[in-house]
Amino acid sequence: MYPVVLKQVMKTYHLDAVDVPALVDINLQLRANCFTVISGPSGSGKTTLLNLIGCIDRADSGEVIVADQAVHQMSDDALSDFRARHLGFIFQNFNLLPVLNTYENVEYPLILAKVAAGERKKRVLDLLDAVGLADRAQNLPGQLSGGQRQRVAIARALATEPRLVLADEPTANLDSQTGAAIISLMRKMQRERHVSFVFSSHDPQVQAEADDTIFIRDGRIVNIERQAEQKNVAMELHV
Ligand SMILES: Nc1ncnc2c1ncn2[C@@H]1O[C@H](COP(=O)(O)OP(=O)(O)O)[C@@H](O)[C@H]1O
Ligand SMILES: [Mg+2]
Repeated sequence: MYPVVLKQVMKTYHLDAVDVPALVDINLQLRANCFTVISGPSGSGKTTLLNLIGCIDRADSGEVIVADQAVHQMSDDALSDFRARHLGFIFQNFNLLPVLNTYENVEYPLILAKVAAGERKKRVLDLLDAVGLADRAQNLPGQLSGGQRQRVAIARALATEPRLVLADEPTANLDSQTGAAIISLMRKMQRERHVSFVFSSHDPQVQAEADDTIFIRDGRIVNIERQAEQKNVAMELHV
């Protein structure tokens, strides 16, 4: 079972009188419980692809199946409900609500999802502990470092226990040491919580941690490397 399946997906932007083909005939399956990286130069279509998978934008044609739902056939209302229930998002600019403290930022998606107060508290405290921010619960985003803000964003993305977490260049605004710490935290959370992660990145640190890397260029998939399968084969050969 694949958390994401794309079939013959096309997306073209229309800017003034010019057509900009952003994705061309994308066929893709993402494996469950994996760390998948979408890699490609600037302008290659990474954000467009993530926005389609994350149900933030719609394909012009083709099929987009996320967590077993044909999201290309859903109404806008059904889609935003689906997004809130099943998907988590981590952004390059963290996108925390500046007037809410750490605790409240992580709790926010649970309030939207109408999770009961007791359960909300349990999940938020557990997540703050897991991302190492238990002692920063009362801080506003402006009182946190970039790395700490991204930790809040990771906790927030996981609060609703989504099937899939999407992250668009999550380390682009961090120095390389902080970026590396954020990548290993995401890896740890992905393994412990059995969730699938899909990132866009041209950061080699991110690619080094990936199970699968999808290389795109000019809106087309040019290569897919599935590391974990190779590791499994190697392990079987040693038995
Ligand atoms: N809203 C938009 N309107 C017009 N063109 C866009 C828009 N968003 C992206 N594009 C174009 O689509 C292509 C892919 O962009 P994008 O998905 O943002 O690439 P990446 O994230 O890999 O940098 C680029 O040529 C970009 O200029
Ligand atoms: Mg982008």
